[in-house]
Amino acid sequence: GLPDPTTAVGREPATMTVSDRAEPAVRTLLDAETVAAEAAKIFARLATEKARSDGPFRVALSGGSTPKLLYRLLASDEYRHDIPWEKIQFYFGDERWVPPTDPDSNYKLAEDELFSKVPKVSPDNIFPMPTEELSPTQAAEQYEATLRRSFGEPLPRFDLVFLGMGDDGHTASLFPHTSALHEDRKLVVTHYVEKLKTNRITLTAPVLNAAREVVFMVAGASKAPALREVLQGPANPAEYPSQLLRHSTGKVTWLIDKAAASQLHQDK
Ligand code: 6PG
Repeated sequence: GLPDPTTAVGREPATMTVSDRAEPAVRTLLDAETVAAEAAKIFARLATEKARSDGPFRVALSGGSTPKLLYRLLASDEYRHDIPWEKIQFYFGDERWVPPTDPDSNYKLAEDELFSKVPKVSPDNIFPMPTEELSPTQAAEQYEATLRRSFGEPLPRFDLVFLGMGDDGHTASLFPHTSALHEDRKLVVTHYVEKLKTNRITLTAPVLNAAREVVFMVAGASKAPALREVLQGPANPAEYPSQLLRHSTGKVTWLIDKAAASQLHQDK
């Protein structure tokens, strides 16, 4: 089986047993737009709360299509004036091995839909995963060094990590039956994802599970079968990597829409 990620990466043996960990909060919302609206509300609340302390608010952004709605909301008049942008550092949970100008780039999505629209976000506070002028392995090592330097601790604890979930139950770029799932020492790894015929860079389970808060955004009927297994099925993280977040020591919130929730057992 997979090692319990919370007892690795320079962390004291976990004193919390699985039962100590709070159950994830699962919020079923109308559709993808209301999922994004709830995510924006959580982001604004947490960033504002953290801004009262002296440290930066450190968030890891996810990729794919769902975050676009979130970014558009945060850049809109409804939110842009209420968020302490200058106190926020933006990192990424994963990245495709493409140039930052490529339509598939998770960085490009955030740049086009958020950073370019909110001038108060300083480029010094944006930490893309490097995908140029070095090998994927060097890029993963460089990003790991960036995290350790920025956070100043062996196991970076993000204030907030946004995650999505693929139809196959993957999250970040932790894909089923890949070696990345078993990584319990490194913070960032790269691997060739056979099914996508491309390299990916991703944060590993220990980092994701160290975050103070994790918010999943999951929308659409295509997610329903995997979501039932992830939330209600037996432990099988090799097949459904999003289950790795069952080991989170932080608060995990699932924002799902009705279509994605359509196969959940309501009585559980
Ligand atoms: C990526 C994402 C990935 C994404 C899921 C869901 O780089 O592709 O990080 O983990 O969150 O594939 O994608 P959608 O938001 O498009 O459903």
